[in-house]
Amino acid sequence: MLTGRNILLGISGGIAAYKTPQLVRLLKKSGADVQVLATTSALKFVSELSLATVSNRPVLTGIFTADTEGEYTRHISLGEWADAFVIAPATANTLARLATGLCDDMLSLCFLTLRPDKPVLIAPAMDGHMYNSLSVQRNLSTLAEEGCRILEPESGSLASGQCGLGRMPEPETIFEALAGMLATPEKSALNGKTVVVTAGPTREKIDGVRFLSNYSSGKMGFAIAADAARRGAVVRLVTGPVNLPTPPGVERIDVESAEQMLAAARPLFDDCDLFIGAAAVADYRPEASVEGKIKKKDAEMEIRLVRNPDILAEFATNRKPGQLAVGFALETAGGIDYARKKLTDKQLDLIAFNIYNGHTSGFEVDTNVLTLLGRDGSVTELPLLSKEKAAAKLLDAVETILPR
Ligand code: CTP
Repeated sequence: MLTGRNILLGISGGIAAYKTPQLVRLLKKSGADVQVLATTSALKFVSELSLATVSNRPVLTGIFTADTEGEYTRHISLGEWADAFVIAPATANTLARLATGLCDDMLSLCFLTLRPDKPVLIAPAMDGHMYNSLSVQRNLSTLAEEGCRILEPESGSLASGQCGLGRMPEPETIFEALAGMLATPEKSALNGKTVVVTAGPTREKIDGVRFLSNYSSGKMGFAIAADAARRGAVVRLVTGPVNLPTPPGVERIDVESAEQMLAAARPLFDDCDLFIGAAAVADYRPEASVEGKIKKKDAEMEIRLVRNPDILAEFATNRKPGQLAVGFALETAGGIDYARKKLTDKQLDLIAFNIYNGHTSGFEVDTNVLTLLGRDGSVTELPLLSKEKAAAKLLDAVETILPR
């Protein structure tokens, strides 16, 4: 399953480390080459000889070792070599070091040299109270936001004799999770296609220090871009100002205003197979923006707004045969007819009617309620889903209409 794949296995010092030779064996049996990076604490729980024997490579621990054999930049070549990085078990201490960018051993150093588009799987394992502590949870959130996949620990008996959350999942479970992350999405109709996604809000400048904008977080567009890349598409993400990490394998272009978004997206129109407008583009901009700061006066103030270009409509109405156009329609409940009208007016193939309720659906939140309306009249109501799952459902629907 993993033939020819190069895996870095980081092992830190928790009791679950004793299970890692089995994980190495599973990886090796499936055809992977495994380089173990163990912390010194890990080697108190599992023998270096066992790990070296099953991996058929020396275990690397410290940075300054006598056996460098002229390989003074081994951490860099390993970061280039690896197709994925698994950290199991990940202790609270290792999570903290990874989340803050410390790099004082081979495990943490290679975490920094790993190529940004390569998947990272982290299996935390520790006492349940430690796991639920604010600092561990904060570090896990940081790592998840950076794109690492966190494999939740399991509940069961712990080394302390207590029962609770914190056990490292079995090596088979870790192996399955990694294999899933490395699976080639050959069945996806998006594999090899070029996708352009717009995301986030736009900022329309009033003066040097003020702008008009909206509450869009960009999460939906980023989730779509991430999933399309996982399906093997070449993904170009044109985004307004957001506070989100670039999904692995996605080419990102940052812009501010609607006009800049159009200028960045337009050159990408020609050779894309699919355009997904997930950005909350401001419909209007101040007619003239002022350099510096507008000073207040003892009078009312008026800002004249002019229409912005419609990026999605420009793509959809000028596209070549075979190119698909997908949009979103953010409406308050009952706005499905507006969504239908946008589908027709903008000449789209599919529109996601996105109910805005301010709590579980719409801007800023992590979940969404979408109804997918197809050009053919089809209506698919999706339940409340995480934005990641909603993105996957949207792309599943796109795949059914994408020319092969
Ligand atoms: N869109 C766009 N450029 C714009 C406005 C909207 O590309 N200037 C895209 C959005 O990314 C979305 C779709 O068009 O995919 C619909 O956006 P929405 O804001 O819901 O609708 P509008 O067309 O702006 O209409 P209204 O604001 O009146 O609801």
